[in-house]
Amino acid sequence: MKKRILTGDRPTGKLHIGHYVGSLKKRVEMQNSGEYESFIMIADMQALTDNAKNPAKVRENIIEVALDYLAVGLDPKLSTIFVQSQIPELCELTFYFMNLVTVSRLERNPTVKTEISQKEFGKSIPAGFFTYPVSQAADILSVNADVVPVGEDQLPMIELTREIAQSFNTLYGETFKKPEGIVPEDGLSRRLPGIDGNEKMGKSLNNSIYLSDDAKTLRKKIFSMYTDPFHIRVEDPGQVEGNMVFTYLDVFGKNKAKIQAMKEHYIKGGLGDVVCKKYLFEVMDEFLLPIRTRREEYAKNLDYVYNMLEEGSKKTRIIVNEILAKVREAIGLEYFKK
Ligand code: TRP
Repeated sequence: MKKRILTGDRPTGKLHIGHYVGSLKKRVEMQNSGEYESFIMIADMQALTDNAKNPAKVRENIIEVALDYLAVGLDPKLSTIFVQSQIPELCELTFYFMNLVTVSRLERNPTVKTEISQKEFGKSIPAGFFTYPVSQAADILSVNADVVPVGEDQLPMIELTREIAQSFNTLYGETFKKPEGIVPEDGLSRRLPGIDGNEKMGKSLNNSIYLSDDAKTLRKKIFSMYTDPFHIRVEDPGQVEGNMVFTYLDVFGKNKAKIQAMKEHYIKGGLGDVVCKKYLFEVMDEFLLPIRTRREEYAKNLDYVYNMLEEGSKKTRIIVNEILAKVREAIGLEYFKK
């Protein structure tokens, strides 16, 4: 039997190149390897845990994320793309899992901790937000996934998922596999910095390059990139470490020899930022052009995209129901079964 993948994203905005190198790229590779059965979730219920007052934002971004998926090469013939809220059974599974996790365990989740401090909830943390890692465990276990290709920040959720699977199996009998998280091998892809040099690229930080950015926007962003603030005149020796132009060239450039020569020249002095940025623009535009073009094609046919999501949700729901039946039986909830 093929190994199962489950992964996904919150629909709170368009996806950026950090999402691409951090997780989407791997998903497409795994999909195309033919060795996996892939389920890709647009996690709208999770997005609502901190956007309850703004369901319109979540609704609008479902289609944006779906377009980004199709644009990077996720193929509905090979991967099942679906919407979380269309599988209400996930909530039931979440509720059983809530009993297998303590509040103090949830308080130790580093990703949630960071999010809580960034979002400035103060003392008013929504209970739904605080417990979303449990719902995420339900997402993953609802199809009994083997592997979860994700960004590095999601590893604490997968750790919790494994603990929940273990507790469930111990209490009620062997039911779930313990899924494994998969992150990119190289550190820069695991955590692509923003164009401003901030250690993380993020929607709210305003330092992202989106998969859907047009050439003009891309150029503008690249020319505003953080380089070496002490490299003032072209002749000055420059730094390539922490210089976003070279960081991005390392991640996206194919001509490694040329990049190496540019770095040496830059360090020695005599190579200007504008020349480097022009080259980075060429590299990035070559990478983004096919993605952008495909996205525009699909955007002309939203009926097709919605239909794909509906079909994917139906298909996933059937599988989740099979697993949920086993869960109910394991716990012993089949009171009226003759
Ligand atoms: N937490 C993920 C994000 O912030 C989205 C997500 C929801 C997810 N359920 C998942 C990721 C299950 C992997 C597996 O984007």
